[in-house]
Amino acid sequence: MTSAALARLLSEMRDDGKETGPGTVSRWLNGVSATDPGVMGWLRELLRNKVRNQGVARIDWGLTESVLLIVGNAKGGVGSSCLAAGLALIATESFNQPVRHIRLGVHNHDESENFQKLLRSRKIASDIVSFEQLANCTPHEKEFVIVDLARATMTPEELARAASQLPYDLLLVPADFTSGDIHATKRFFQSLSKPDSVAFLHHTGWKVSIDFARFARSREFALWEKQFINFIFPRSTMPPVDWEGSGKWNSDDQEALYTELFVELLERVGLRYEQLRSCGPEIESLTLEQLLQAAGH
Ligand SMILES: Nc1ncnc2c1ncn2[C@@H]1O[C@H](COP(=O)(O)OP(=O)(O)OP(=O)(O)O)[C@@H](O)[C@H]1O
Ligand SMILES: [Mg+2]
Repeated sequence: MTSAALARLLSEMRDDGKETGPGTVSRWLNGVSATDPGVMGWLRELLRNKVRNQGVARIDWGLTESVLLIVGNAKGGVGSSCLAAGLALIATESFNQPVRHIRLGVHNHDESENFQKLLRSRKIASDIVSFEQLANCTPHEKEFVIVDLARATMTPEELARAASQLPYDLLLVPADFTSGDIHATKRFFQSLSKPDSVAFLHHTGWKVSIDFARFARSREFALWEKQFINFIFPRSTMPPVDWEGSGKWNSDDQEALYTELFVELLERVGLRYEQLRSCGPEIESLTLEQLLQAAGH
């Protein structure tokens, strides 16, 4: 909850006809103005109880200003769009981060609208943009922008040039590295302006082979350790999320994998992540403001 929202709520609850302004609330939260310490203590302990029960995933942004993540591959059908939209859900709902999902709307308009409708219904900003508009989609402060790089009718080189217009922090390239059809992926990768900021994810096809790294190397894919996300992302029998219906995760396993992947990506863009234990000493020392944030307000 923002200071403004809290101020509105408090104003509604007052019975003296006066209003509590957002500035006043901010001063209380920052400890600049005195409030009734009993009331603030009560509020703080209520929140602490909530946080103890749910546990806290805390991300330390440090000096990082924002994160621009592109998900895409010149080879299609490898799960890029599901990953982009699913990671936006995880970042918002499990990690409480401000997220903007951007999808290139030139490829498959109906599908674009499904993702957009679902994300917006969950209060996640989601826009469909053209390639011309893409260059304007740079993140705001402390924001995750997740771009679903649709292939449209471009060659791998053209798609790589389009991606290279953006100052991406990380480009997640899902691919089935056991399939012989990874030439497009390779051409795409070789034409990127920042190949070092690429992370490959082995997103399996229907037949799972655990020999993918050797196979990829035999196709001269320079999968040096750092660049290769070191877990396999298996397919489920259903899409990870029921995008057109309930919007729920179709499988707990997929949700857990998306969460693991998100944590891995955080580390790759230099953000520190910590999972505070439910009754660890860390939660006992959180301030009111930190508790509000941790409780998802
Ligand atoms: N983890 C998963 N388990 C099962 N099915 C999945 C998974 N991820 C994606 N799919 C399904 O695979 C198909 C392709 O996924 P998706 O549209 O995300 O790929 P894409 O790379 O964006 O494809 P396109 O080239 O059409 O843009 C979809 O039918 C999707 O529901
Ligand atoms: Mg797609």
